[in-house]
Amino acid sequence: MLSDRIGRIAPSATLAMTAKAAELRAAGIDVINLSVGEPDFPTPKNIRRAGKKAIDEGHTRYTPGSGTMDLKKAAAEKMARDNDLRFKTDEIIISCGGKHSLYNACQVLFQAGDEVIIFSPYWVSFPDFVAVTGAKPVIVKTDSSRQFEPDFDDLKAKITSSTRGIIINSPSNPTGGVWRDDAVLQVLELGRDADAWVFSDECYEQLTYDRPYVSTAMLAENNDKVLTFQSCSKTYAMTGWRIGYTAGDRDVIKAMGKLQGQSTSCPTSISQVAAIEALTGDQSEVSHMREEFKKRRDYIVGRLNHMDGVNCATPGGAFYVFPDFSSHMNKGGKITCSNDLSMYLLKEKSVVTVSGDAFGGEGHVRFSYAASDEDLRRAMGFVEETLDEI
Ligand SMILES: Cc1ncc(COP(=O)(O)O)c(C=O)c1O
Repeated sequence: MLSDRIGRIAPSATLAMTAKAAELRAAGIDVINLSVGEPDFPTPKNIRRAGKKAIDEGHTRYTPGSGTMDLKKAAAEKMARDNDLRFKTDEIIISCGGKHSLYNACQVLFQAGDEVIIFSPYWVSFPDFVAVTGAKPVIVKTDSSRQFEPDFDDLKAKITSSTRGIIINSPSNPTGGVWRDDAVLQVLELGRDADAWVFSDECYEQLTYDRPYVSTAMLAENNDKVLTFQSCSKTYAMTGWRIGYTAGDRDVIKAMGKLQGQSTSCPTSISQVAAIEALTGDQSEVSHMREEFKKRRDYIVGRLNHMDGVNCATPGGAFYVFPDFSSHMNKGGKITCSNDLSMYLLKEKSVVTVSGDAFGGEGHVRFSYAASDEDLRRAMGFVEETLDEI
């Protein structure tokens, strides 16, 4: 009954866990949800106010399919201010979130016969974005001791004449890893040699804790085949507003606009007005969030590394940690894989996490620290108890 296309993709594992947490909460269970992929802060007041004003002033109709000119200008201004990148408005498209941007870009660039490189552990959606186009996701290993930078031997071995794209996601979901400039440069060089498109998913670019973020396109001298994806979701705690944007090659941007015009018509008009305020208004809430997340990162990494047999690399960004619990699996007990551990935490301790295998990282579990200090403290206590019990 259904097309082959839809059969090639799986439901989002992270959204499934979020739904599970909501279900348990609705049943009256006191859950600690560390599966979330969104800041626990409210959307800053100035942005909320801009959204309300947009409704009152009648910004409630269709906009141009690829977004309003004012928001494209705001995105250009933001990328110049924060990333030192210069884009013209016809090199920018506004979409319904970064996910939509990435999906559209895959649709306009990849097809059957193509191969697209994805680094593992990967964000759950990347393989599906690629697979739905008919292209083949090619998974490349990374080094957990080096912020999950690529295993370059594996990368070189997997680039073929069919390689048409390489997807970089630094800071990463699920690992929080932030690559050094040198690692990005090497990927760019290999991408250029292969004549492949390099996607840089930068939706966590404002959330780096140990050094300032450098956008991939800044490092990509004379390489026109780099697309920059950013989003208002994580930076401004605007996940529900659904605004993301892509910058790069004019023809690709135009093609994405054509697809968007024939699928969603346009991103939400009200959210677009609010996003102008987000990108160009007061940025102090971003710094505040960054400081809070850094404290929580240090806390959770410290707690996890104090647990026997747990190895948690200190991630440079985002709001996830991706500890390795593999020494606790296959001890002849009931926990033999990441999913067993994640399910045990859910059922026995009401702590919601996402199993590492969903991200291609068997042996690991993803914890989001976009949660209160109290929840993090309690959850770490439950993880300690669990490791004693299993
Ligand atoms: C790596 C990564 N890219 C893109 C997105 C998309 O976010 P949004 O569509 O809300 O902009 C997410 C959201 O979880 C993400 O983790």
